[in-house]
Amino acid sequence: MSSVIVFGPTGGVASVAALTAREHGAKVFLAMRDTQKQIPGLSTELEQQGGFERIQADLANPDSVAAAVKASGAKRAFTYLAFGAPDHMRATFTAMKSAGIEFVVFLSSYTIAGDPKDVTPAELIAYLHAQAEIVLDEVFGDENYVALRPGGFATNLLRYKKGIAAGEVRIWAPDFQFDCITPGDMGRVGGTILVQGPKNGQKKVYLYGPRLIPQGDAIVTIGKLVGKDVKLTIIDEEEALEQSLAHGFPKPLAEYMIQTFASTSNEVTERAHYQVGVDNVELYTGKPSTKFEDWVEANKELFDA
Ligand SMILES: NC(=O)c1ccc[n+]([C@@H]2O[C@H](COP(=O)([O-])OP(=O)(O)OC[C@H]3O[C@@H](n4cnc5c(N)ncnc54)[C@H](OP(=O)(O)O)[C@@H]3O)[C@@H](O)[C@H]2O)c1
Repeated sequence: MSSVIVFGPTGGVASVAALTAREHGAKVFLAMRDTQKQIPGLSTELEQQGGFERIQADLANPDSVAAAVKASGAKRAFTYLAFGAPDHMRATFTAMKSAGIEFVVFLSSYTIAGDPKDVTPAELIAYLHAQAEIVLDEVFGDENYVALRPGGFATNLLRYKKGIAAGEVRIWAPDFQFDCITPGDMGRVGGTILVQGPKNGQKKVYLYGPRLIPQGDAIVTIGKLVGKDVKLTIIDEEEALEQSLAHGFPKPLAEYMIQTFASTSNEVTERAHYQVGVDNVELYTGKPSTKFEDWVEANKELFDA
């Protein structure tokens, strides 16, 4: 049985990637900052039956990453971007490689439309993910890692759950469209690639939900499905900034997102490889990309305020 190590398994995508890797027959090590934390979808019983093993590691601490990899004996790793790493994770990826990792699945972003080297620092979110991909190229070589490049997450809408429960959502840029890719689809693709490698020689795997939905419409839809009549109130830039800061976003990121959401360049044609990204979900999981309404229906409890 091959061993894999999943960094950040408490996360929405990585938790599903870990479960999927197990389903594909791998022994799975769960590398966590806090080994006592609950992992979504993994009960204590399932964890024991499945032979999962928890191990301490912080992606911001390369020595802890090397120690976890060595203790696991894993040759394959799933990882998030560690935001705030001044070296764009170079020391962390170098530590992974020296400790024995030969192949990495990295959760990147669709905001990189092509070559990571073409992304400018002004494109904040794309830039941070692109720099990490460039480091992966240099440390592992482009044959030895896969960058998942998912679209806008359905889970982004959880930010509005209090407003949905209260029947009024105060929102900036309700027309901004999300494809609403689900953590389940991303995690199942990530876990499959972690164990089996990519298909068709793909190195950058775009992943999208099946339809672009204006976020205001998505909120009203959630309301309908959870039994709430939701009114949308459009707010100004100042309140949008306050709202984002209150959700814990660093100010530069909050400002960047506010500008992006206000831009009109949000059509399907602006999503890199949109249809390929929708089809990739089925290519790797055998099931079509999950419809937003189906995801809400199956996850109503997440919207309990
Ligand atoms: N939101 C979007 O629309 C979007 C679009 C494209 C790409 N993305 C990418 O997807 C990511 C979010 O994925 P998600 O929803 O699955 O995330 P999530 O549920 O917020 O979980 C993030 C995970 O990362 C772990 N983590 C963070 N810093 C760490 C560190 N220094 N060392 C070890 N683990 C660390 C967290 O562990 P703890 O439990 O210890 O906190 C947690 O398990 C974004 O950060 C971005 O890179 C997002």
